[in-house]
Amino acid sequence: MTVKIILDTDPGIDDALAILLALASPEVELLGISAIHGNASTAQVTKNALAILELAHATHIPVYKGCDVPLVKAPLLSPETHGGAGLGYAQLPEPQTQARAEHGSDFMIEQIMAHPGEITLAAIGPLTNLALAIRKEPRIVQNVKEVFIMGGAIQHAGNTTALAEYNTFVDPHAAHVVFHSGMPMTLTPLDVTYQCIFLKEDLERLLKINSPITKFIADSTRFYMEFHDEYQQIDGCVINDPMTLALTFMPEICDYRELVVDVDISTGVGLGNTFADFYNYEKKKPNMKVALGVRPRLFMELFLERMEKLANSLRDD
Ligand code: RIB
Ligand code: CA
Repeated sequence: MTVKIILDTDPGIDDALAILLALASPEVELLGISAIHGNASTAQVTKNALAILELAHATHIPVYKGCDVPLVKAPLLSPETHGGAGLGYAQLPEPQTQARAEHGSDFMIEQIMAHPGEITLAAIGPLTNLALAIRKEPRIVQNVKEVFIMGGAIQHAGNTTALAEYNTFVDPHAAHVVFHSGMPMTLTPLDVTYQCIFLKEDLERLLKINSPITKFIADSTRFYMEFHDEYQQIDGCVINDPMTLALTFMPEICDYRELVVDVDISTGVGLGNTFADFYNYEKKKPNMKVALGVRPRLFMELFLERMEKLANSLRDD
């Protein structure tokens, strides 16, 4: 039984790896991509999504442009992390395909309402599209199968401010709408993604295969590794988004706790900070499953094996 997935994404280097993992995994039926502002502008990430699908010979997957700006805040792009065009040093040909006319939030609504209980959402960028979809059609809360969110830092330092992770910091108000929606959610926070570092040795293993896929992974992650070294003294790079995607079909990679989680939308230093009430002082019903334990090598082996399979299917030699 495949998992029918809509991927809401801001490609973005680790987003690009999540798209490739979805395409390389027989457990996943990728129904479409909704693009969201974040690592680069919505126009840029939409173009990147189209180009990545062309790279992987997967132009049958539809792409929908989503929101250009957060619900309340001004956009915050991350060229220092993902490069000006969002894909590091990778340079993909201008896509020949075009995004569909429908807005990304409307694509989500249409699919979820047409297939009640069947659609899984993987949201690996700021949550603006999903929050807008909830406001436009509140019934998606009851009709979506499950939502997997890459975002937040529960007992881990922020990666954008001292307290906040990028996706929840860029649009904390959208995160608040989603976190309080009642949707069946699983959160993949920095607490687990920072335990799974894509190393130079992992890249060397992939580069044994002469393929445009491995060249893309090398050119994009080389920039991403330079960022992690310079800003966070990490040897390698944190591939947050592929891990989130992997949990949709291999949940055993992580251990979870049902927790009451919220996001700070006050205007102080904590804006975008995500926190869990571990002792449930307010006696609330938990609103999500949070991945707090992880088996790093189980995930990385899955990722590398799937990238090898995809690269071998598209060899240059
Ligand atoms: O904080 C990491 C997250 O923010 C990842 O999804 C990355 O792609 C950026 O969107
Ligand atoms: Ca992302």
